[in-house]
Amino acid sequence: MPMSRKIIIDTDPGQDDAVAILLALASPEEIDVLGIVAVAGNVGLHHNANNALKIVELAGRPDIPVYAGCARPMRRHLVTAEHVHGDTGLNGPDLPAPKTALQTRHGVDYIIDTLMTAEPKTVTLCTLGPLTNIGMALVKQPEIADRIAEIIMMGGAYFEVGNITPAAEFNIYVDPEAADVVLRCGAPITMMPLDVTHQIQSTPDRLAAIRAIGNRTGTAVYEMLTFSEGFDLRKYGWAGAPLHDPTVIAYLLRPDLFDGRLCNVTIETASELTVGMTVADYWHVTGKAKTVQYMRSGNAEGFYALLTERLARLP
Ligand code: BDR
Ligand code: CA
Repeated sequence: MPMSRKIIIDTDPGQDDAVAILLALASPEEIDVLGIVAVAGNVGLHHNANNALKIVELAGRPDIPVYAGCARPMRRHLVTAEHVHGDTGLNGPDLPAPKTALQTRHGVDYIIDTLMTAEPKTVTLCTLGPLTNIGMALVKQPEIADRIAEIIMMGGAYFEVGNITPAAEFNIYVDPEAADVVLRCGAPITMMPLDVTHQIQSTPDRLAAIRAIGNRTGTAVYEMLTFSEGFDLRKYGWAGAPLHDPTVIAYLLRPDLFDGRLCNVTIETASELTVGMTVADYWHVTGKAKTVQYMRSGNAEGFYALLTERLARLP
């Protein structure tokens, strides 16, 4: 049996972040979650970190260490998304207050220490929120760049353009300077942008299948996504709301469900109008180095079959 892939999940949970974490924890044969680091994003750091603890307990995995990282972006005021995720960031299910506590080490130091002590290129960073923690880790200890196996991020958009501004996707928009540091770091990067996640729609029948699993995790995921999709259904008028962050974990499990190409991606950090835009040179018109595996499409049927099957393995 091949060894499971070691990952650190950097996240701002967030209902869709929660589903991504649950999908990873339901897949121990393929994925070894070393730790979870919270970052400010969907809501403030305090709620995001607390939510991460609730999620590992929901999955019956209180042994997974959870760290708090950065409370604000590198240079900018924090922009949050309570209008999508609710005031706690995880509105929907009534999850018990966590029994476990956060680790005392800062999340950025945890990322650095883990990468510096593990065999080079054995730890993958899965990022589901703004890139502040990873950017700060790269600033504090640049040597980690050569030791990262891969960064798989939910972030960006090109063909679907923006969801927080007409030009920018939320995770990149919140901390574009951090995203710029990460995209220039030289580690292999795979990006799961809105171009993919807008195809992975949580339609009523897909959500019903998750509820029908009948375990507590399936019920909680149903309640989470029913809450968070309300805003997007009104916004887009589609049959189902996009599901973003779990595509990162699904890509680790089933890369064949996704399609894209290697290209150059640059972050706009200066323009007031388009700040946070991920300018993807999909057609290689600039001749710049192709640095990012930029995914453009995903197989929604295959994705939801995988998600439903894996969630059934949890309590
Ligand atoms: C991203 O923004 C957040 O609201 C979601 O959790 C996801 O990570 C989508 O733009
Ligand atoms: Ca997120």
